[in-house]
Amino acid sequence: MNADAQAEFNPLRHPVLFDAPRLLSIDSQWVGHIPLAYLLIDLARPGLFVELGTQHGDSYCAFCQAVTELKSPTRCVAVDTWLGDEHTGAYDDNVLATLKAHHDPLYGEFSQLLQSEFDDAVAQFEDGSIDLLHIDGRHGYESVRHDLDTWLPKMSPRGVVLFHGSSARHDPSWGVWRLWEVVSWQHPSFEVPHGHGIGIAAVGDEPPENLLAFLNSANAEPAVTRQFFEEMGERIVSLQALLRTTQRMAAQWGVLSHWRRLTMQGGLPQLDVAELFGDPEPLARALLEEVARLAQDDINLRQGREPMEMPPREAPRPVPRPTGEAAPSPPQAAAQSASSPPPETPPPPGASAASASLPPPGRARARTRTTSRTNR
Ligand SMILES: C[S@@+](CC[C@H](N)C(=O)[O-])C[C@H]1O[C@@H](n2cnc3c(N)ncnc32)[C@H](O)[C@@H]1O
Repeated sequence: MNADAQAEFNPLRHPVLFDAPRLLSIDSQWVGHIPLAYLLIDLARPGLFVELGTQHGDSYCAFCQAVTELKSPTRCVAVDTWLGDEHTGAYDDNVLATLKAHHDPLYGEFSQLLQSEFDDAVAQFEDGSIDLLHIDGRHGYESVRHDLDTWLPKMSPRGVVLFHGSSARHDPSWGVWRLWEVVSWQHPSFEVPHGHGIGIAAVGDEPPENLLAFLNSANAEPAVTRQFFEEMGERIVSLQALLRTTQRMAAQWGVLSHWRRLTMQGGLPQLDVAELFGDPEPLARALLEEVARLAQDDINLRQGREPMEMPPREAPRPVPRPTGEAAPSPPQAAAQSASSPPPETPPPPGASAASASLPPPGRARARTRTTSRTNR
């Protein structure tokens, strides 16, 4: 063990690591790297950060959140067509519109969402101007090689490049690992392999001192460093799972409400998903009761009997918390989608908002039943 190197990286000196994200989408595979994103802003303090490939904005908004939290004088630019690619699949305008609604008021002063092909956007950046670049576009070898070659001249002497997908070998169409094998030998580097991997490479001649110290420390203790970031990431992944569960149940609630209306039995009361997020058990119980009623009603109809009389019911409420315990983070976007009036046609399962804006970061904000173990 290298005692000097280890002394360089002490997570307690970077409390931003423990922040809960203000944006979380239900299908991003990146969210397990959010704490690392915060740390990289803290260590690199980039003048200009650029991301290639943003989609819902989980990674990008994590970097922006850290810039705000740390009051770092960083300009940020996200480049994406916001059309999708062969791995994400094509997606519609709502993705960018939802991201803008979250991003512009919080980060608009120092950050720009640039809707463009990467190759078209590159001319807008001066050579040697980018201090931190996150490459997360197409994950095929030729694509990521092309992105690196195209953007490398734009990197400053302090330049650091992040490669998402550096450890993913599960799919032959992913080839970032092949590029990473070369790049990681050429430059001071470190890889955290969980969540398809992030490779961190200091490609400039004058890497930020703190970043270099972190790389040295991490390479001196690779296993424990990787375990630390994986567990920190797991905390966010658990939060994402909880959000996904609550949103899916809220969508089911909408379907059941629609069915009640169709059968002239009165809709269900509106849900406050923001209130229920972090404590979905009452909603789960209410859904089970409704499904049981639906099943009984179906039997009655088949047997030629009248539909059951549906008693009015109260909206499920979270279990009261002990005094002083922080409420879980309410996801605004989820609340909007679920508390709106029941639709004319039932929404398909999972049709609720794909991402949620969360309240300002607090170190205990992510406390939920599934994440309380790692929250302070
Ligand atoms: C894997 S997703 C990004 C995920 C995101 N970083 C996150 O946190 O979840 C890749 C994105 O890159 C975009 N993309 C891929 N190739 C591109 C290109 N050549 N120019 C612009 N955008 C591109 C796609 O539209 C897609 O939104």
